[in-house]
Amino acid sequence: MACSENMFFLIGLFMSGVLACFGQRDLIASMPDRLDVLTGSCVQIPCSFDIPDKHKDTFNSAILLSGVWIKEFPYLGERPDSVIFNSTEMVNRYQGKITGNMSQKNCTTVFFNVTTNYTDIYFFRIESQPFLAIDFGKHVYIVVSDLPSSPILTVSGEVKEGTPVSLNCSAVAPCPEHPPELTWTLPTQFTTENQLQENPDQTKSVLSTVTFTPSYLHHEKNITCTAVYPVGTSNKRAEHNMTLNVSFSPKDTSASISPDDPVFVGSCVNLTCSSTANPPVTNFTWFKISEGKTTQVASGQSYTLNVTVGDGGLYYCQARNSHGCGMSNEVQLAIKGHEEPVNPKVFEIVGKTLGLIFLFSLIVFFAWRRRTSRLPSGFDMTDRSQGLVGMNSPVGTVCSNQATVGRGNQ
Ligand SMILES: *[C@@H]1O[C@H](CO)[C@@H](O)[C@H](O)[C@H]1NC(C)=O
Ligand SMILES: *[C@@H]1O[C@H](CO)[C@@H](O)[C@H](O)[C@H]1NC(C)=O
Ligand SMILES: *[C@@H]1O[C@H](CO)[C@@H](O)[C@H](O)[C@H]1NC(C)=O
Ligand SMILES: *[C@@H]1O[C@H](CO)[C@@H](O)[C@H](O)[C@H]1NC(C)=O
Ligand SMILES: *[C@@H]1O[C@H](CO)[C@@H](O)[C@H](O)[C@H]1NC(C)=O
Ligand SMILES: *[C@@H]1O[C@H](CO)[C@@H](O)[C@H](O)[C@H]1NC(C)=O
Ligand SMILES: *[C@@H]1O[C@H](CO)[C@@H](O)[C@H](O)[C@H]1NC(C)=O
Ligand SMILES: *[C@@H]1O[C@H](CO)[C@@H](O)[C@H](O)[C@H]1NC(C)=O
Ligand SMILES: *[C@@H]1O[C@H](CO)[C@@H](O)[C@H](O)[C@H]1NC(C)=O
Ligand SMILES: *[C@@H]1O[C@H](CO)[C@@H](O)[C@H](O)[C@H]1NC(C)=O
Ligand SMILES: *[C@@H]1O[C@H](CO)[C@@H](O)[C@H](O)[C@H]1NC(C)=O
Repeated sequence: MACSENMFFLIGLFMSGVLACFGQRDLIASMPDRLDVLTGSCVQIPCSFDIPDKHKDTFNSAILLSGVWIKEFPYLGERPDSVIFNSTEMVNRYQGKITGNMSQKNCTTVFFNVTTNYTDIYFFRIESQPFLAIDFGKHVYIVVSDLPSSPILTVSGEVKEGTPVSLNCSAVAPCPEHPPELTWTLPTQFTTENQLQENPDQTKSVLSTVTFTPSYLHHEKNITCTAVYPVGTSNKRAEHNMTLNVSFSPKDTSASISPDDPVFVGSCVNLTCSSTANPPVTNFTWFKISEGKTTQVASGQSYTLNVTVGDGGLYYCQARNSHGCGMSNEVQLAIKGHEEPVNPKVFEIVGKTLGLIFLFSLIVFFAWRRRTSRLPSGFDMTDRSQGLVGMNSPVGTVCSNQATVGRGNQ
């Protein structure tokens, strides 16, 4: 291929410019600017033409009309071999057919068995003696490649869980006799609808619309639309991949407590909420259930508290984003220091009382027997009780705030 794409366009631009200046278009042809074609397949060039008013009397559509396609260089006087197709000739350099009805000014043409050396710009000419005209101002750029171009995937609006969504996949059909077949790969069940449609420039495309109902489980899963082009006895395929972005309300919301064991009053407890959501959770809120009442106690992903006697109870969190909210399981905050100091004191009092009664009895008994005796070992229990009380004094880490609130925004 001697000429670059740019050069074709420069030639075209130059000619359009010259014609625009002098207004000398003898024929007005309409065709697409560009066609992308597959090697070995066919190409249909949608084409129509019109005769400018100044030539309306010389042109007679009743007379035998030839349609001629010219490759690259339209000045036939200088290069007559640039004619690659002439509808009145039996044999042409390009195998083809004008499928449009020329009497109705439809010059739609199909070329078969396209090879890569067909890549070029093409001009159209009509011959209807004595009227002969080329439209120098319009050409079609045909690009032949071995691989089909990828289909185009489009989604309208946001993909939300539970709301049916439609996706379009569109693949060009330069050879409408052998259109591509479109298939979908989705992570869920779906329905499709295919149709051959005409684009504004009269070229054809196959459009496939798929409808399905996304769930949060489909977030970040792939969707593929595959176009299979039949070429001769084999197929050529091209595909388009897309990763689903499903927006959903918070899921798998769970609350955890650290430490997970009963704690003493004055120690530090960390409640943490976790959740997955798209877009991410904006608000975490903590609730406490105590004596059948639910109260909001904090906001933020983690809630740290320096335990007081009243803090015992069940806690849960709520995660919220723009699509809704999710509620967690309940976690128990059990307090050790709240109950245990009471019992040792009771033991202490009971122990001391019993000890005193026992001592008194002994004194009375021994005094009555007029014998002296050693004191019994009733103080062991008292010592143990005091030891237990001693263990209740605040221990553990330093908790700077009553509630350290971490912002849930990400
Ligand atoms: C097209 O074919 C006709 C019939 O053979 C011939 O008269 C005419 O000159 C040809 N046109 C061109 C541009 O070759
Ligand atoms: C021109 O002819 C082609 C092929 O026969 C046809 O598909 C197309 O609809 C026609 N165009 C018009 C404008 O009639
Ligand atoms: C082409 O169009 C003309 C005029 O409209 C009509 O008479 C003729 O039958 C058409 N030819 C074909 C092949 O359809
Ligand atoms: C295209 O070429 C193949 C051989 O390569 C031939 O069998 C077939 O008939 C041709 N198709 C057309 C429409 O001419
Ligand atoms: C185009 O290439 C094919 C092989 O790919 C060759 O047979 C044919 O002669 C070439 N045609 C032209 C006009 O160069
Ligand atoms: C899909 O294509 C149809 C028909 O062209 C159009 O009405 C619809 O808006 C398109 N939908 C998307 C998601 O692009
Ligand atoms: C999804 O598509 C991307 C890009 O095409 C690819 O790299 C990735 O492996 C695919 N993932 C899955 C699960 O198919
Ligand atoms: C509470 O737990 C969260 C998550 O494990 C951690 O990010 C945070 O630093 C902890 N806060 C305290 C005060 O330990
Ligand atoms: C996915 O959608 C969410 C919510 O609509 C948005 O915030 C996020 O930026 C999107 N992510 C990607 C990778 O497009
Ligand atoms: C969520 O957080 C934002 C900013 O952090 C705050 O303005 C808003 O009031 C909160 N909403 C609820 C329901 O707590
Ligand atoms: C808990 O609060 C009490 C009283 O405000 C304080 O004396 C104690 O040091 C705090 N405990 C921790 C672990 O910060």
